[in-house]
Amino acid sequence: MSLGIDLGTSALKAVMLDERGTVIGQVGVALAITRSRPGWSEQNPDDWWDACVAALHQLKLAQPDAYARICCIGLSGQMHGAVLLDHRDRCIRPAILWNDSRALSEATMLAQRFPSFADVLGSLPMAGLTAPKLLWLKANDAEAFSAVDCVLSPKDYLRLKLTGDRATDMSDAAGTLWLDVRNRRWFEPMIEATGLKPGQLPRLVEGTAAAGHLTADVAMTLGLSQRVIVAGSGGDNPASAVGIGAVDAGHSFITLGTSAAVVSVTDHVKANAGAGVHSYCHALPHRWYAMGAILSGASCLTWISRLLSQPGEQALLDLVADRMPIDQPVPATAPLFLPYLSGERTPHNDPLALGGFMNLGHDTSAAMLGYAVLEGVGFGLRDAMNSVESAGAMVASCSLVGGGARSTYWAQLLSNVLGRELRTLSGSELSACIGAAKLGFAAYGQGPEMLHAGLPVKRTFVPDPALRDALQTRYENFRGLFPAVQSLHRQP
Ligand code: XUL
Repeated sequence: MSLGIDLGTSALKAVMLDERGTVIGQVGVALAITRSRPGWSEQNPDDWWDACVAALHQLKLAQPDAYARICCIGLSGQMHGAVLLDHRDRCIRPAILWNDSRALSEATMLAQRFPSFADVLGSLPMAGLTAPKLLWLKANDAEAFSAVDCVLSPKDYLRLKLTGDRATDMSDAAGTLWLDVRNRRWFEPMIEATGLKPGQLPRLVEGTAAAGHLTADVAMTLGLSQRVIVAGSGGDNPASAVGIGAVDAGHSFITLGTSAAVVSVTDHVKANAGAGVHSYCHALPHRWYAMGAILSGASCLTWISRLLSQPGEQALLDLVADRMPIDQPVPATAPLFLPYLSGERTPHNDPLALGGFMNLGHDTSAAMLGYAVLEGVGFGLRDAMNSVESAGAMVASCSLVGGGARSTYWAQLLSNVLGRELRTLSGSELSACIGAAKLGFAAYGQGPEMLHAGLPVKRTFVPDPALRDALQTRYENFRGLFPAVQSLHRQP
């Protein structure tokens, strides 16, 4: 049995996976974000560990026999967070998360002073990535900065608690902006540019490597054997990729969760940092991926459902499906939505951008606003997909995973907007946990067949050619609105 633990932003989830790849038990524990100032987003790493212990106790209680057979653990986690440890491995302050934009001026400064680094690091400096956050700390809390002995990514704090080791895998390391992604080793000039020394970063391992064992204390607390192996593991998008079997060049998928991304696996680095593409190491050796990341995905649907006082997201989806039939062209006057509720990464790299509705009239209804939001997220994904393709990575037919994949209406609309065949998969809401558990098995020495295995296809969505031209016009109108969005926050 392998235990897969995914440290998400809104919940920590865990599954037990047997050697045939069947999920035997699953559990989730909610997590909260603290937003004490505009643009800030933090969590307390000890809450992650408490959630992890609680989740494992629940699994043990529910399925003691399966739990007793756990021989390996794989981790997955939200990427780009900064966990700041002192010399005794204690957290100096709350972790600064991927969706925190406070380090904007530091990211801009890094881009201006070191323009050639983006090619080595696989990405432009962006406010949400880890490295600029350390420069922010240096400028704004010198005392905390001088106490930093090690910077970890979020899931690696769980590893530290489990094994006592300061280690990270290549895929999470790539998301810090300190990794030479081609050569899969730390890039010292960037580490120095952020005021750190290489010794303050963790040891690097591949995601499929056996990276450590449980400590005696933790084995006792969790009721597991000390011989349990912990895998190098992966960041949440690469772990999800492993979960659905996206392991070879040309495999591509879209995740539609709180944030959203278009991901295409490659067998060497395919980069176009200028288009806001992240070209990161996969959680598998000799593999990379190109990703277009958008910061607000299914969270836009949650937001509009609440704003329209709908009983839930499904109620709004039902209303939209009823009033705006998926096989009919939308009226030319239907509103357009810009999904930048928390800024944007790909392609705009603008954490200050805000969203908006355009084209409202007296006849604009709740259903039309709901439709515009679903379509606007689709247009954001189309921008991300175009950027990924501009890096030379292929996005052919792809899988759609994450909470947003539950809506067949949205899946069909995305297929129409992107002009791509999309597949939804059974069990994909657990793809990151499943991928983590598969990496656990790989570290334990299981053969590569399990890594390649995908999830069963639930349904296939094919673009509707009758709607292509109307959607193309609406996409061009959507693209034309971004300069106005930027001019709003550029005004003094
Ligand atoms: C990826 C990204 C998010 C976070 C949180 O670049 O920022 O997917 O990993 O899920």
